[in-house]
Amino acid sequence: MIIFRTILPYRKWLREQRSQGKSIGFVPTMGALHEGHLSLLRAAGNNGQTTVCSIFVNPTQFNDPNDFKLYPITTESDIQQLVSIGTDVLFLPSVEEMYPEGAIQQTSFELGNLENILEGAFRPGHFQGVCQVVSRLLDIVAPDNIYMGQKDYQQCMVIARLLELKQSATSLKIMPTLRETSGLAMSSRNMRLSEEERKKATAIWRTMKEMAGTLSSIPVPDLEKEAEQKLLAAGFDKVDYCTPADAATLGPWQPGIDAVILCAAFMGKVRLIDNLLVHA
Ligand code: PAF
Repeated sequence: MIIFRTILPYRKWLREQRSQGKSIGFVPTMGALHEGHLSLLRAAGNNGQTTVCSIFVNPTQFNDPNDFKLYPITTESDIQQLVSIGTDVLFLPSVEEMYPEGAIQQTSFELGNLENILEGAFRPGHFQGVCQVVSRLLDIVAPDNIYMGQKDYQQCMVIARLLELKQSATSLKIMPTLRETSGLAMSSRNMRLSEEERKKATAIWRTMKEMAGTLSSIPVPDLEKEAEQKLLAAGFDKVDYCTPADAATLGPWQPGIDAVILCAAFMGKVRLIDNLLVHA
């Protein structure tokens, strides 16, 4: 695996790849890699593409400075995992390389309502920061395909919008969420949970499945209240939301259309998110 820490040598390497007719499959990450990330890289490699992974903990997407400080950094083990699955390139830039003019959030992306609802409402500025970094990474890495996990459902919709705004030729490939056998969605943040907390956190998956089963028979406000109570009773400390939305727009869900149930809740200081698609 080649590791590039700066842009120029990457660009020279990319020119060579292009001259050999190779296409690039890209997986952007913030490190603390787990099987979910590796599955995205495997998908990228499966159709003969050269695989590029980036690891960059982007300061401009953290609305909570403590969350940024506590974000797990496991670079050595990340590199070992990437090598073990045959990743071709790791792009591992510094903050200065990514933001030569300083890590100040740009808020220039027209995301419409996606920015104000659900994750957008609870994490103001988060999606602008995500767009800022992904836009920069797309300009540098210049991939044919970008692979992202369905676990970050709203983020996938934001990136689809970003690609439209940039009139980008890169295709977004959304891959299914990987889960532990307990149902807990794989996430870098799980590393911050104790064994006991990991067990309790499986309540998100259970609660979403139960909500899916009663979606058409109970009014949405009652479903939300019930879900919150279940999550708190299972050991979550705070529930930001657990609600069904229109799977295509994230607007209000109505019977007869595909739904996505989205949840965000705190186990101690660790904020977990998950979602479940329910077809009409
Ligand atoms: O999902 C993530 O890990 C991050 O939001 C991303 C897409 C790598 C941008 O920093």
